[in-house]
Amino acid sequence: RPPLRVALAGIGVVGGGVVRLLETNRDLIARRAGRSIEIVAVSARDRHKDRGIDLSPYRWEDDMDALVAADDVDVVVEMIGGADGSALTLARHALGAGKALVTANKAMIAHHGLSLARLAEAKDTPLKYEAAVAGGIPVIKAIREGASANLIARVYGILNGTCNYILTQMERGGASFADALADAQAEGYAEADPTFDVDGIDAAHKLSILAALCFGTRLDIGAVTANGIRGLIAADIREAEALGHRVRLIGMAERDQNGLYQHVQPCLVPADHPLAYVPGALNAVVAEGNFVGRLFFEGAGAGAGPTASAIVADIIDIARDEYGPAFAMPVDALDAAPVADAGAR
Ligand code: HSE
Repeated sequence: RPPLRVALAGIGVVGGGVVRLLETNRDLIARRAGRSIEIVAVSARDRHKDRGIDLSPYRWEDDMDALVAADDVDVVVEMIGGADGSALTLARHALGAGKALVTANKAMIAHHGLSLARLAEAKDTPLKYEAAVAGGIPVIKAIREGASANLIARVYGILNGTCNYILTQMERGGASFADALADAQAEGYAEADPTFDVDGIDAAHKLSILAALCFGTRLDIGAVTANGIRGLIAADIREAEALGHRVRLIGMAERDQNGLYQHVQPCLVPADHPLAYVPGALNAVVAEGNFVGRLFFEGAGAGAGPTASAIVADIIDIARDEYGPAFAMPVDALDAAPVADAGAR
């Protein structure tokens, strides 16, 4: 089969990881995909920034529209970030042009996932976003495909690596909140605007996506309540430990007869619960299905390598022509049942 031709939009920490992964595992990926996967063009804000990778083999496009419109591009990988702005414009143009879109952008999927899925369906082209939730953990595939026969009652977990890193560093004693956040930024875990991490907004984006997939509902980010960890001090963590608990930022979505509840908040997790043992910037997701039982996924939720792993897995699916609707089913078939107000619970 002819190579699958890929354009990368936005070359930051994650984009660099995608270039490295496609270069390093090139042959293995080609064998598994049944065809080679070639980067043909790249685009980012600053052409001359030192990214520690050689982009000279690839065509540089200053103009994102030109990147999308190019005849030799089959797949556009969006790694710009942000719910709106140039990421959304690029995504709409790519899908509108009938190209496959792979994105790591949880904010954009949380806010515009349904309209983008509609566009993808109209053009019969893939919209893939494995990297948007829990970084390298293949939780979108696991729920969308692996658990698709189950009625899922509840999904919850640690969905923000930066907060988990801050909390585990503070637990060890030495680090202040500010120092731990600075470390998470230096490691490349934190969002461009870290208030999204510490205020629970990033976790809310991911939770809304997971909830839509688990419950077959229309994604509704507006119905997620989010409280972050900004107000926590070392004494809170010591008190929790004295009571046999650890503080973790947990996103939880649950469906019952009253509707769908979606909250992100710092929770006291019993010290012997598996979520209390998720170290550093790792994420963990628990989903409970009526036939499969409890599923527990753990892995790196942020960082260049794990996020690139998820992005390239999506590209391989496209190379194999393995894709279906972006969410649990086509957009018109998704349950539009009103969402319960989490605060009313
Ligand atoms: N800022 C995010 C986190 C990156 O810390 O989990 C991955 O989405």
